Amino acid sequence: MATKRKKQPAAKTASAHPVVKVAILGFGTVGSSVARVLAASKVPGLQLTHIFNRNVERKRNSDAARVVPGTVVWTESFDDILRSDVDVVVELMGGLTPAEGWMRKALAAGKSVVTANKQLIAYRGPSLAKLAALHNVHLVHGAAVAGGVPVIPGMLQGLGGDQVTRLSGIVNGTCNYILSRMEAGADYATVLADAQQLGYAESDPSADVDGYDARAKLCILSRIAMHAELDPDAVATQTISTIEAIDFSYAKELNCTIRQVSRAELNGKLMHARVAPMLVPLTSPMAWSHGTQNMVVVSGRFGGDVVFSGHGAGGEPTAVAVVSDLLAVAQGCSSVQLPVRKREVTGDFFAPHYLRFVVDDKPGIVSAISGALTKVGANIDSLLQRRGYPKHRLPFVVTAEPCLTSTIEQALASIARMDCMLERPLCLQMLEVEDKAE
Ligand SMILES: NC(=O)c1ccc[n+]([C@@H]2O[C@H](COP(=O)([O-])OP(=O)(O)OC[C@H]3O[C@@H](n4cnc5c(N)ncnc54)[C@H](OP(=O)(O)O)[C@@H]3O)[C@@H](O)[C@H]2O)c1
Repeated sequence: MATKRKKQPAAKTASAHPVVKVAILGFGTVGSSVARVLAASKVPGLQLTHIFNRNVERKRNSDAARVVPGTVVWTESFDDILRSDVDVVVELMGGLTPAEGWMRKALAAGKSVVTANKQLIAYRGPSLAKLAALHNVHLVHGAAVAGGVPVIPGMLQGLGGDQVTRLSGIVNGTCNYILSRMEAGADYATVLADAQQLGYAESDPSADVDGYDARAKLCILSRIAMHAELDPDAVATQTISTIEAIDFSYAKELNCTIRQVSRAELNGKLMHARVAPMLVPLTSPMAWSHGTQNMVVVSGRFGGDVVFSGHGAGGEPTAVAVVSDLLAVAQGCSSVQLPVRKREVTGDFFAPHYLRFVVDDKPGIVSAISGALTKVGANIDSLLQRRGYPKHRLPFVVTAEPCLTSTIEQALASIARMDCMLERPLCLQMLEVEDKAE
């Protein structure tokens, strides 16, 4: 006997609504650029109907508001948006609160959500996606990683058929701006001040320079590329603020430069993931990425390496990603969505390491360092010492052959206690073309 299949309702799309009505939440850098792109491109099928912001009169009277059609309703009440016939809420306020609660209300009210909020998606993405599915609406966040670089849609649409085993990239434009200017000779404090003046860095830059922004993005990328759900707080981070000019000199001698790299590699059930300044070979595409550019290299079992690069931030590049997401929602979002699994995470990688020491020079220091490394099973590969530094404050570098980062850290714990050490030793992973997690 033939059984009757229960009909699945189609997600709300342009076919249900010839014109998709859009509300922007947050008329700041990205929100105002989305309004500008929508107005300039006259994107068919999308109509901006509402703009929400606190103290909204200030926004309505700003220069950025000039492009906004007179028909748009400006409001500082989120309930106005909920009660309206808006189809898609574009969340561009940032942060977890109140954005999370409001997005839940919007989804529960049958409105799709487009957001560029990496913290929201890194920490709450899976549960928001479930809520969206429950209410048969869409949650799309292509702008949450790498701004205008379509790495998320590229992975969803173009790489869904591969088995991605690892990814690495530069996903924080502020750190890339700082480190690529340091590579050209500037010092950290000057470049950070410039970055703050140019609006690339916050007055409290720790989310960028200490790696928290990048690790949220790494978690989102790992979820999409490797279907792995990671706890962002469990991902190892290392600040770029301890990098000095001398490190770029030594890196150059090793045919490398230094970048903040976010990397993840799935090994069985364990995810190796880390956000840290690393030595990057000058031949790697990551070394060619300067200023606020972003770059992500995705390695698939069948398709090999795919590189995404471009403007990782900025109002207009990010607005392009948001408007592209809006179009995807309007057309029914047919991207590949595979189930994700929770994964344990470790910051350990099997890699060569760069170790920089600053010592009050005395005989026997190198053999003591070598002894501490040998004791844990690590081997020195090379020793670099530039001329011209005083013996009482001598910076020099040891590179170690590939081993686990935890092995090196074990040796460094005892090396750091040596009387001659004037600073905490700096330990950086060195990227190789073929390094593997163990
Ligand atoms: N900027 C970029 O290049 C970029 C790139 C990729 C992703 N993103 C993401 O895009 C989102 C927006 O970034 P943005 O740079 O456009 O930020 P922004 O310039 O600070 O804009 C945020 C806007 O939201 C408003 N807002 C914040 N909290 C609010 C609240 N509780 N109630 C009402 N209005 C509120 C702000 O109003 P006030 O003016 O009153 O503060 C401001 O107008 C963030 O999630 C960010 O991570 C940004």
